Amino acid sequence: MSETLTRETERIRRIWEKQAPRYDRNAALWEKTLFEDGRRWVCSHTHGEVLEVAIGTGLNLAFYPDGVRLTGVDLSPTMLEIARQRGRQFGMKVDLREGDAQGIPLPDESFDTVVCTLALCNIPDDRKAITEMKRVLRPGGRLLLLDHVRAASRLGRAVQRTLEVVMVRLGGEHLLRRPLEHVRAEGFRIEEQERYKLGIIERLVARKPE
Ligand SMILES: C[S@@+](CC[C@H](N)C(=O)[O-])C[C@H]1O[C@@H](n2cnc3c(N)ncnc32)[C@H](O)[C@@H]1O
Repeated sequence: MSETLTRETERIRRIWEKQAPRYDRNAALWEKTLFEDGRRWVCSHTHGEVLEVAIGTGLNLAFYPDGVRLTGVDLSPTMLEIARQRGRQFGMKVDLREGDAQGIPLPDESFDTVVCTLALCNIPDDRKAITEMKRVLRPGGRLLLLDHVRAASRLGRAVQRTLEVVMVRLGGEHLLRRPLEHVRAEGFRIEEQERYKLGIIERLVARKPE
């Protein structure tokens, strides 16, 4: 990893270590309006051995179907500790590990499903993270993503470009990304794709070739 990427990744970790106690409360303010039933939708497509990349405080735990075996990775130990408490509350067994999405500390082809919600906007090298998600997926496995993305309209993108300057500096938050492009470039087959809220929210189901 380049020195710049390592430095940015460390900065993001520090940001989330500080944000962790407030994350659930802050998320509640905007996620119903913006993401609607996105978490439920993503989790309803999971099965078998599931890896959630950048699991945060585990806000998706409420939506996983019975029977999945869940592993979660995140940069921030404090976010993970909240996820651990949430797992206990739900009586769920979750294997939670500190790790970087840009170098997932797990073996090749070990998961049936990989999930990532509201995090590719924040991982410094989002393309590398998607390459890693592909590596840990079994052939024929599914990748499930939900995030805010580059707006569909020119006006929307102009607003995002202005806001992004501040948001990257404050929180490492990118507004002009489009993970779908990397997913396609990695050779996944797109099975379902929906874009809503003026095209700034996108969710998708993609399959790794057999
Ligand atoms: C906006 S929160 C989203 C948390 C969770 N995915 C959700 O849906 O609520 C972003 C999360 O990404 C994690 N993150 C950022 N960069 C990461 C990286 N390189 N590797 C692993 N986790 C990362 C942060 O620690 C934080 O928990």
